[in-house]
Amino acid sequence: MKTLHLRASSEEDVALAAALLQSGQLVAIPTETVYGLAARLGDENAIRTIFQVKGRPPDNPLIVHCARIDDISQVATRIPPIAWQLLERFAPGPLTLVLERKEVVPAIISAGLPTVAVRIPALDVTREVIARVGEPVVAPSANRSGRPSPTCVAHVLEDLDGMIAAVLDAGPCTIGIESTVLNLVGDIAIARPGAITAEDLASVLGFPPPLMDVSSHTPIAPGMKYRHYAPSIPVILIESLDALPSVMQNTSVVLSTQPLPETYNWRPLHRATVYDEFRRAERQQRQAIYVLLTPDVRKDVALMNRLQKAAAPSATSDVSHRV
Ligand code: TXA
Ligand code: MG
Repeated sequence: MKTLHLRASSEEDVALAAALLQSGQLVAIPTETVYGLAARLGDENAIRTIFQVKGRPPDNPLIVHCARIDDISQVATRIPPIAWQLLERFAPGPLTLVLERKEVVPAIISAGLPTVAVRIPALDVTREVIARVGEPVVAPSANRSGRPSPTCVAHVLEDLDGMIAAVLDAGPCTIGIESTVLNLVGDIAIARPGAITAEDLASVLGFPPPLMDVSSHTPIAPGMKYRHYAPSIPVILIESLDALPSVMQNTSVVLSTQPLPETYNWRPLHRATVYDEFRRAERQQRQAIYVLLTPDVRKDVALMNRLQKAAAPSATSDVSHRV
């Protein structure tokens, strides 16, 4: 299959992206967080293909993306008033809510869970594509399972070229890490930290929701236990440069928010570019990626979450206690 490279700036291309989705094809779509691999909500075959091309374990559920806030009632039921208040404040934007799933929603989307995750992406063009499709789309990040999420078209093609019908190019994602996932079924808690922080959410909830402690009980989505966001070379978190073996200085890269001496092969560390840096180091065949955990990085709950998961030892070990 030839993967079409469509442009978000072209009306024709946007219409074509929507038409492909309508006809059961997979299209990678831009969002403000990361690129998503979209399929029409009602098309179970297309959704099955998402799991196949990503190599995604079937117990890791997908996020439903809606064009308008009101559309979440197409997929969720018994939506609590707090959900509407949160959406009024944060949607469209990088907030995903876990709600009770409507029976009509194919169970495959939610990996059989009685819940459904929904969000309204911030980019106008993304919502335009969804509106043209005429129903919500499901979209996990458009990477091979376990790999760093794609924050530009080159990343999508690195993982999925020839396996999907098209990618719609809107340039690099501005946020660069995935949405905050907030569980509203049962105890309110953050299942995945993101750009919208616990403190931001407190402005509506009245309290900062805790980060779900997946070590003390079963994760709400079993798929959370898998290794994530990781390049094919080791990611090693260090507290100080003393922890970087001198033999590694020439062959590895150090990511740091603070400028480092010239002798280090260092690159800036930011949420928006961290996955790009992972992939760059991989392409350059570095031996390892060292990440300097300065106090500002430690304070960034969302970034730390991704770094710790990327640094987790192997794809099979249970890394949930590292969240
Ligand atoms: O920013 C984002 O959320 C991106 C863009 C494309 O929208 N999407 C994304 O999707 O990151 P994905 O599939 O890579 O991650 C979905 C996350 C997983 O951590 C999954 O476990 C969680 O959402 N999730 C999905 N449905 C859930 C559910 N019913 N209950 C709990 N967690 C759920
Ligand atoms: Mg993902």
